[in-house]
Amino acid sequence: MNIDVFTLFPHWFEWFRGQRHVANALALGHALECVDPRATTPLGAGQVDDTPFGGGAGMVLRVDVMEAALRARYGDDPVAVRSRRRVIALTPGGRQLDDALASELAAEPGLTLLCGRYEGFDERIVERFCTDEVSIGRYVLAGGELAAMVVCDTVLRKLPGALGHADSALEESFSPALEGAPEYPHYTRPADWRGWTVPEILLSGHHEKIRLWRLEQSRRRAGGT
Ligand SMILES: C[S@@+](CC[C@H](N)C(=O)[O-])C[C@H]1O[C@@H](n2cnc3c(N)ncnc32)[C@H](O)[C@@H]1O
Repeated sequence: MNIDVFTLFPHWFEWFRGQRHVANALALGHALECVDPRATTPLGAGQVDDTPFGGGAGMVLRVDVMEAALRARYGDDPVAVRSRRRVIALTPGGRQLDDALASELAAEPGLTLLCGRYEGFDERIVERFCTDEVSIGRYVLAGGELAAMVVCDTVLRKLPGALGHADSALEESFSPALEGAPEYPHYTRPADWRGWTVPEILLSGHHEKIRLWRLEQSRRRAGGT
């Protein structure tokens, strides 16, 4: 998979690229690259935004600036790019990211993530250049960079080989293996700490009973039983 993040703050991603599962994915041949729209802006003095028509506070990312950045990256009209690649605008009001969407995105060969800043995008960027709008929650961040990292984090850890243990991502919160429920509780040594003992079943060595107990705990957490 190759992921392109369009951001005015590419250096934010230097730290992120060094995190274990991200570094693992990159070492396996996946790519995570940043594109700075300021580098290709057709406007003077690195301008990328402008005041909103109709008035109001803040600045809006310009459609001509994002078009120039997308054209420079993909060598094509961005209107055509979106027919061959998922182009995602990160917006507070978009489709909420969940495990199912993360799995859907992890199956794509390439993703483009557009990070807004200030008041956000000129709506024509979203309407004409993007395939999706994705939100990481019903709150407002100062910019799309952290949202892009959240998307990349959950998508990359689903790629085979990104996690130390291949099984880790198979049976975890919200996975089909747990029927979409939160994960069951975990315990480790000591088995008794201040009289707080771990559930007997987990010490029994009886794998099938443990599996059923865990499933029951997950269902309980989901509010099912
Ligand atoms: C300050 S926000 C703009 C908020 C916008 N004026 C509104 O009220 O919806 C700037 C940028 O941060 C990103 N952003 C903020 N909150 C987000 C969220 N919950 N999920 C995804 N992206 C978010 C978006 O890219 C957005 O364009």
